[in-house]
Amino acid sequence: MNERDSEIMAQSLSGYGYIEGMEMNEADLVILNTCSIRAKAEQKVLSLLGYLRKTKLKRPAMKICVAGCVAQQEGNRLLDRMPHIDLVIGTQNIYNIGPLLLRAETDGSRVVTELRDDYAIPKFLPALSPMAADRAESACAAPSIQFSKFVTIMQGCNNYCTYCVVPYTRGREISRNVDDIIEEVNILVKAGVKEITLLGQNVNSYGKANAVTADRRPYNFSDLLREVSSVEGLARLRFTTSNPKDLTDALMKSFRDVKNLCPQFHLPVQSGSDRILKSMNRKYTAAQYLEKVEKLREYMPGIALTTDIIVGFPGESDEDFQDTMNLLEEVRFHGSFSFKYSDRPGTQASKLAEKVDERVKMERLAVFQQRQDEISLLRNREYVGHGQSVMLEECSESGGKGRTGTNHIVHFSECRGHVAGDIVRMKIVHAGQHSLRGEIEKTDEV
Ligand code: 5AD
Ligand code: SF4
Repeated sequence: MNERDSEIMAQSLSGYGYIEGMEMNEADLVILNTCSIRAKAEQKVLSLLGYLRKTKLKRPAMKICVAGCVAQQEGNRLLDRMPHIDLVIGTQNIYNIGPLLLRAETDGSRVVTELRDDYAIPKFLPALSPMAADRAESACAAPSIQFSKFVTIMQGCNNYCTYCVVPYTRGREISRNVDDIIEEVNILVKAGVKEITLLGQNVNSYGKANAVTADRRPYNFSDLLREVSSVEGLARLRFTTSNPKDLTDALMKSFRDVKNLCPQFHLPVQSGSDRILKSMNRKYTAAQYLEKVEKLREYMPGIALTTDIIVGFPGESDEDFQDTMNLLEEVRFHGSFSFKYSDRPGTQASKLAEKVDERVKMERLAVFQQRQDEISLLRNREYVGHGQSVMLEECSESGGKGRTGTNHIVHFSECRGHVAGDIVRMKIVHAGQHSLRGEIEKTDEV
């Protein structure tokens, strides 16, 4: 989400004469696009801003803009603490960064963090030069060419999981206009993009909070998936992130019916304990989650499942944590992102009294991660000896890397005349904990 937001700001600013990607110490404008999901992410921003204070003393003309969730959350407080910041813009204002920078110079409005309930995601389409032409000129495509792109389909969240700051920093859930989404996907695919990932905090509730166009109602995420998947030339489709409570049977069936939907699903469970899930306001039980996992595997055998886990949520006992470990054993996720619970300002969980000791959180995290690593390795070994469809991301005489439909990275040492962006058939010959090794097969079939 943040990555796509950074891209949107860079694309918007190219109309104002800015070119992306200079060294931070030489840039005329530095934008920190911030995340406040956990305290650690926020601390990183504050220390980088401290460093930039010194840079600005040497080069006073350099402008500093803080965007995203920390900007939204802190607003004027950030400017009071760090007067060397030129502009603080909230999550709903990123499309407007150009005019806001100009305005900051003229009338000194340096904080813009309005969050509107009736916000509509502006029509914003990427201006890209065709990649196919660049590709034809070089034997192996330049690494700067991206064949995989993110497309935002919604913003904000209405779920109020008790640990989560997102509803406060990104505002109410707003679905983007479906025609704008389809137009953006068409532009990207015509420019050479092969793989699209649809993005939102909770994509499963696309179309629920607001109509996506006047003439297409009711319209939901399964409808959108089907429509995007049929854009001609789109080889691969993915989406993230989903809340299990909104995962419908229709959406699960998409894995069976939508041919270019990749066999991979990130489905955050957060905890295996019903007591903790209730206290997190997740609105499903471990058994309901497992039922959905079973159905997904029925509709798409071999689907690679990943998840998010929080350990040490307030009140989490040894038994609750054991329930999480049991769920891990039951599902045997291909991979997971696991975090120590971190208090976030304004959230319900931050007001809960029974905080878990930091040392206990660390121990639980280590136990979880060690077991997940073992399972990931075993899961990866299941691919050895089998064929996989792989999109090449980097490719040179000495080999390169690509990604399977299941979202595993595959390294290879011979490109056999292929170039980045090609989707090839590979035989997996070795499995590590975090990646696979493969050999390109001599066939056109993918
Ligand atoms: N503490 C720890 N982890 C959190 N996450 C969200 N909020 C918190 C928090 N306060 C994790 C959840 C979510 C992922 C993006 O970040 O697991 O799915
Ligand atoms: Fe946060 Fe996701 Fe829950 Fe929304 S669904 S409140 S983004 S964890």
